Parts: sequence; structure tokens; C-alpha cells
Amino acid sequence: MTEIVPEVLISEEQIRNKVAELGGRISADYTDVDDLILVGILKGSFIFLADLARELTIPRSVDFMALSTYGDSESTDTDGAVRMIMDLRRNITGKHVIVVEDIVDTGYTLSYLLRNLAARQPASLKTCVLVEKPERREVFTQIDYLGFSIPDVWVVGCGLDWAERFRTLPYIGVVRPED
Ligand code: PRP
Repeated sequence: MTEIVPEVLISEEQIRNKVAELGGRISADYTDVDDLILVGILKGSFIFLADLARELTIPRSVDFMALSTYGDSESTDTDGAVRMIMDLRRNITGKHVIVVEDIVDTGYTLSYLLRNLAARQPASLKTCVLVEKPERREVFTQIDYLGFSIPDVWVVGCGLDWAERFRTLPYIGVVRPED
């Protein structure tokens, strides 16, 4: 396999600072909440979720969902069809929920998730996203806590992959299709 070193787009230090800032904001906003549930969307969110959860100074628990997109395109942009392959373990009715995502691209995944979770009647439902690509957005999605807006380039690291590679890279890097 050829050695590819993704070019740094967002450094490890920038990410660490941003995650600390987001953790501080969420801890302040939920200071009176004792049943916050962070919902990580597998696979991509697992590193961001782990880092964010450890920055919170308030009681919190974590749960996970896994989604699959129909077809094998680079994202959900063929028709926006999203399917749940693993649901939460816990009932979220009456609980405070923050959905944690590594990336919002077209927005179909997060908008599906918000519709799905809102139907379960949580006490509140917000979203925390590490990176978004505004140029790629096809549907509106609510992002309450955002790390970084980035251009339309293929990014890896911090949970983001390129054919399952680079998820554990400590920075967000760019890979080009010709790499
Ligand atoms: C990524 C990401 C989001 C989705 C966003 O998941 O984690 O769930 O794509 O794309 P959208 O805004 O266009 O819907 P991916 O399908 O790459 O799966 P993974 O998290 O398992 O890598």
C-alpha cells in the first residue's frame, strides 16, 4: 500500500482547543441538567465523542446509533436515503440529548436522525458537529455546537476515514482522489 500522509487542514492543537471550548459551552448550557445523553453516530463520531465527553464537567452518559446509507456512494447524496442498523439502548423520552457527529456533508444523515429522535420526545434535542462542509449542504440541518466549517475537500482523521483508513489520525487532514 502506498504511503499517504494527509496534508494538515486542522491541527491537533486546534482540535484540542476547540473540543475544550465546546465542552465548556455545553457544560455551561446544561449546568442544571443531570441526565444529559450524548448520542454518538457510528462509526465516525467515536473519537470526537470520547474527547468531548471527557471535557464535560456535568453528569453525562453516552449511547450510540449506527446508520447506513443505501448504495456505496461517498455520502448520502444519491437520494438521501438513510437506514438505521443499530438503535440506542436507552429510552430517551424526557431526557436531554445531544447528537454528536464527526461531519455534516449533505445534511441528510443528521436531518434523518433529528426527525427520528424527536419522535421519541426527548426533553431537548441538540447537535454537536466537529466539521461541516457548507458548500455540500442539500438539506437544512440544525447544528447547535460546531467545531469547524471546511471547504469541499475529502477530510480524514479524528474519526473520519478514507476507505476505513486514517480514522485515528490525531489531526484533520486532506486526501486527494489521485493520492
Ligand atoms: C459520515 C458522517 C455522517 C454522514 C454525513 O458517515 O459520520 O454520519 O457521513 O453525511 P451527510 O451529511 O451527507 O449525510 P459515513 O457514511 O461516512 O459512515 P462512517 O461514520 O461509518 O464513516
